[in-house]
Amino acid sequence: KYEKIWLTFGIGSLLVFLIVLGWGAFYQGTQPPSCLVTLNPQNVQAHNSFKEENLGVQQVGENEYVVNVLASAFNYDLGKDEEGAPVKKIRIPAGANVTFQATTSDVVHGFHLSGTNVNMMLEPGYISDYETTLDNPGEYTLVCNEYCGVGHHMMSAIVEVY
Ligand code: CUA
Repeated sequence: KYEKIWLTFGIGSLLVFLIVLGWGAFYQGTQPPSCLVTLNPQNVQAHNSFKEENLGVQQVGENEYVVNVLASAFNYDLGKDEEGAPVKKIRIPAGANVTFQATTSDVVHGFHLSGTNVNMMLEPGYISDYETTLDNPGEYTLVCNEYCGVGHHMMSAIVEVY
């Protein structure tokens, strides 16, 4: 008699579990996590500077910088230098307040500045941002940690903290 109750309970739990899992995968999976878009006024203002002509590092205050990056397969676009060549390395003073703003023009890419806490997922149509202070001088490699295709491992850029 008890066996029957436990069996029903067990199957019931399994069903609830499967429904929750299925709902999570199919319903939630189609929407990006809401934490990607931060809508405090300061960030909205920062986002407004995300334009093609503003790619790369911009100084926006005495000790404040914004870095705009457009990812695509398989490149991080940081703008062009004076000679028109693509920028592959940017420099930021140690201890400065820096906001990384990045998005992707095609598929999902990662944005991980190795050796730091800067780690974002870039999704089409969304600007991800990360505000931080890099205190230790050195060269940090920006890498893609979301598999994005055959050139995934070649996606990189350098951030030098001086
Ligand atoms: Cu971009 Cu992997």
